[in-house]
Amino acid sequence: MMCAATLPKPSKQVKAYGQPTRGKTAPNRLRRVDVYVCLAHAELLSTPSGLVVDVGFGAQPYTTLEMAARWQAYNPTLRVLGVEIDPERVRAAQPYAMPPQLTFMLGGFNLADLIGAQTATIIRCYNVLRQYAEQDVQPALNALSKALREGGLLIEGTSTPSGGMAAFDVYRKQDGALVHQALVFATNFHQPDLPAEFQTILPKRLIHHMRDAAPVAFFAAWQRAFAIAQGMGIRSRRKQWIAAAEWLTENSDFVFDRRRRLIERGYLCLRTPLL
Ligand SMILES: C[S@@+](CC[C@H](N)C(=O)[O-])C[C@H]1O[C@@H](n2cnc3c(N)ncnc32)[C@H](O)[C@@H]1O
Repeated sequence: MMCAATLPKPSKQVKAYGQPTRGKTAPNRLRRVDVYVCLAHAELLSTPSGLVVDVGFGAQPYTTLEMAARWQAYNPTLRVLGVEIDPERVRAAQPYAMPPQLTFMLGGFNLADLIGAQTATIIRCYNVLRQYAEQDVQPALNALSKALREGGLLIEGTSTPSGGMAAFDVYRKQDGALVHQALVFATNFHQPDLPAEFQTILPKRLIHHMRDAAPVAFFAAWQRAFAIAQGMGIRSRRKQWIAAAEWLTENSDFVFDRRRRLIERGYLCLRTPLL
C-alpha cells in the first residue's frame, strides 16, 4: 500500500488535458461495462501484462477497483490504472493502490503523456464526456486514442446513476485511427420503460441528435419490436428484450452483434454509429 500523500510521477510533466467535473460515482455503477468486455472481448483481457485504463474514476475509486477485481480474476497479470484530473481524488484513491497491478495517477485525456512509451489495451472513459460540450468529444477521443495500442478498444459512454442501464460506444484502433465498432445498450432488466429510457443516457456525441433521422428510425423500430413482443403475451422483461432483439435483427436494416450470450445478458450491440 502507498503513502496517502504520494502520487506516482508521470513520465513527462505536462498539463492534464480537460477539467475537473462533478465526481459522482457509485459501487457497481460500471458493472455492465466490465461484464460486456468479458463477454465480447475476452481475447483483449488475456494480453500478458496488458495495461487497461479507467479515465475519470470520480470522487471514490469504486469503478477502477471493480474493474481490477473483475478483469484480474480473468488475467492476474493485467495492470489496471485509474486516472483522474482532480488531485484530491487521486490522493484519496492512493490507499487502495497495489502497484504494479493497480495504480492511480493524476492526468487527463492526454494519457499518452502520462504512460509514456507504454500503450493501453483498453481505455474506458465513462460518465466523463457527458459533462463536456459536444464539440469537445472528438478531440478528447482523439487524444485518448494516442495512448491506445493497435487493435485496442476505447469505450466511452453514460449510465444511469446506479448503473442499471448503460449506453456506450466501442471504438477499435485500426491502422492508427479510431474505428467505431458498436453502440451498446445494456440493462439489468429492472426498468419498466425499455427501450425509451436509453434516450436519456446516450453517449454525448448522440444526445443532442435524438431528432435526427437515424436515431428516430432506430428507436421507432426497437419500440415496435418491444410492442410486438408484448402483443405476443411475453411478460418477462428479459424475454421481451430477447424477442425484440430477434425481431429487430430479422426485420430491420440495422446490423447487430448476434451473439446469444450478449443478448441474453441484456446487451444490444448495434453495429452502426447512428450519426
Ligand atoms: C461523474 S465522475 C464519473 C466517475 C466514474 N467514471 C463513474 O462512471 O462512476 C467524472 C469524473 O471524471 C473526471 N474527469 C473529468 N475530465 C477528466 C479528464 N479530462 N481526465 C481525467 N478525469 C477527468 C472528473 O474530475 C470526475 O471525477
